[in-house]
Amino acid sequence: MKKIASIIAVVFTLMVITSGVYAAAKDTYEFKGGAVGKVTFNHKAHQDLGISCQKCHHKDEAGKEQNCSSCHNKDSKVKPKDAFHNSCKKCHEEGKKGPTKCGDCHKKK
Ligand code: HEC
Ligand code: HEC
Ligand code: HEC
Ligand code: HEC
Repeated sequence: MKKIASIIAVVFTLMVITSGVYAAAKDTYEFKGGAVGKVTFNHKAHQDLGISCQKCHHKDEAGKEQNCSSCHNKDSKVKPKDAFHNSCKKCHEEGKKGPTKCGDCHKKK
């Protein structure tokens, strides 16, 4: 009986995970950024600033936020570079807060 109960528990856990109920953002993301160097994005810090999720996840329903790359890729009309620059950099410029110079976001090492 115990064995069956634990199998059920494992199956249930897997169902919950694969159904995406617990899909959560990582605290930080690292983007390759090409020759100019990689970009580290602190998701948690930005959330803690109180910026609304939909400000960045502009096409997603609340609770169903997905990676930008699921829509912005080499085949999309708006390429990742423009999506990120026109989201990240633009907000920093408009709000006069956060890095706006290339080397403040892109790090060679
Ligand atoms: C300042 C912009 C910004 C804000 C604000 C923001 N996010 Fe994100 N979020 C991102 C970026 C950028 C990624 C990573 C995208 C990628 O890798 O393409 C991400 C990733 C995620 C992911 C991971 C998706 C996956 O499939 O792995 C989830 C979930 C998420 N965010 C939820 C939220 C929620 C909920 C909020 C609000 C409480 C929020 N985000 C606020 C920019 C933001
Ligand atoms: C479900 C698909 C989808 C997702 C996910 C998505 N986008 Fe977009 N995005 C689009 C489409 C389509 C456009 C083209 C213009 C429009 O229809 O609004 C666009 C346009 C944009 C623009 C304006 C483009 C410009 O040239 O100024 C920015 C900025 C942007 N996206 C940033 C992001 C960021 C950052 C993320 C992730 C946090 C993200 N997008 C996630 C579909 C998506
Ligand atoms: C809607 C506004 C907004 C968007 C969009 C946004 N940021 Fe920011 N970001 C801020 C603000 C405000 C600060 C300044 C926080 C402070 O100085 O207290 C900041 C700070 C930063 C910093 C320096 C502090 C830290 O967290 O390391 C980096 C790096 C950064 N942002 C990268 C990004 C990247 C990369 C993206 C896009 C994926 C992005 N930001 C999108 C508002 C934004
Ligand atoms: C606010 C942060 C930020 C600033 C400032 C910024 N970038 Fe970016 N940039 C990004 C992010 C995030 C990406 C997406 C990286 C990825 O998809 O791997 C990107 C992508 C790029 C790419 C495309 C890389 C590739 O091969 O996919 C180039 C080129 C680039 N940036 C050049 C620049 C230059 C030049 C400047 C200064 C004029 C600059 N960036 C300023 C955040 C920034």
